[in-house]
Amino acid sequence: MRIVVTGGAGFIGSNFIRHMLATEPDCGVVNLDKLTYAGNLENLADVERDPRYRFIKGSICDVELVDAILKERFDALMNFAAESHVDRSIQDARAFVETNTLGTQVILDACRRHRVPRMVQVSTDEVYGSLGPSGYFREDSPLSPNSPYAASKAAGDLLVAAYVRTYGLPAIITRSSNNYGPYQFPEKAVPLFITNAIAGEALPLYGDGLQVREWLHVQDHCEALALILRNGHNGEIYNIGGKCERANIDVARHILRTLGKPDSLIVHVEDRLGHDRRYALDMSKLERKLGWRPRIPFETGLKETVGWYEDHVTWWTRIKAGEYREYYQKTYGDLSHVSQ
Ligand code: NAD
Ligand code: DAU
Repeated sequence: MRIVVTGGAGFIGSNFIRHMLATEPDCGVVNLDKLTYAGNLENLADVERDPRYRFIKGSICDVELVDAILKERFDALMNFAAESHVDRSIQDARAFVETNTLGTQVILDACRRHRVPRMVQVSTDEVYGSLGPSGYFREDSPLSPNSPYAASKAAGDLLVAAYVRTYGLPAIITRSSNNYGPYQFPEKAVPLFITNAIAGEALPLYGDGLQVREWLHVQDHCEALALILRNGHNGEIYNIGGKCERANIDVARHILRTLGKPDSLIVHVEDRLGHDRRYALDMSKLERKLGWRPRIPFETGLKETVGWYEDHVTWWTRIKAGEYREYYQKTYGDLSHVSQ
């Protein structure tokens, strides 16, 4: 199987490429990535010399480039490329619409032109909006995105559905819950909390910290995606959940306990604008149709993830010393009065 992975230098894309090369001996992967602040070729250092893997630097918004790549014959394209951080979309939405919406349309057109037999749009539970204390989102729940990030992803999803309906494009949409695991950029809550805790710095918790997210280990996500790539049905949407809801404050406390650090490192900061209260997925369709459920319990996965960040200090200190520093100051201000 020859596949194009877009956004493969990011968190989930790099884990997916590693998973495919490790589990499918006949797999060939072309990774098209723009290398934004979130793209990092160090994430794939262990596979860069694998003859089955090729990297191309470029944007999914570049019509000529995407067209030239797809002139070669591929069995599938998996679209991971995105601006993915909600807080950044609140600060400036432009790049989100460009990549997540317009970039998706560029890919859809190229897949249609070159008759790519399968396109998988890696989307998110955030397109459904926010839940109260009960209930779950199903694949046919209405789209009701709240952040500019979620709106740009929902627009991408709608374009995929439109191409399926209008042109019969063989595409599938997946919507996963919050991922955690190795190589996640430390602006996201779990790696931010872990790396700040290791450094003895404050863990900035938005608002009351009682917002709930459903956590999915990235390895579980990659396994579900590989299964859908092979056995999913064109035109379908699949929710991929972790079956594990946790309040943010409990995640922060759990990380601190794992690292032997005090709860006093938690600092309640101003809430995120338009902050979604709760996400939770009904993923019975994926269980019923493809027999998939997550394997990695959250506490086990989180402990391993903490261990990974302890073992990869150079990876994340380099990131935190770069462009990210300016972003952190702008987002959180000075929290240096809290440390341990
Ligand atoms: P990430 O921010 O870690 O990586 C995104 C990657 O896309 C980076 O390598 C970046 O360089 C690349 N990219 C950005 N713009 C591009 C462009 N125009 N052309 C080519 N490459 C570009 O994101 P992630 O957390 O790995 O998320 C991957 C996908 O999964 C996204 O589509 C996201 O919406 C979705 N998703 C993420 C989560 C999560 O919890 N992280 C959950 C559900 C869905
Ligand atoms: O649900 C899937 C989505 O999960 C993906 O589509 C997004 O790409 C991904 O970024 C993630 O979005 P969230 O906004 O849920 O993730 P984040 O890690 O930014 O935040 C998780 C929760 O923690 C959320 O309720 C906000 C809160 N938070 C986050 C940060 C960065 C804090 O309390 N403090 C923080 O500093």
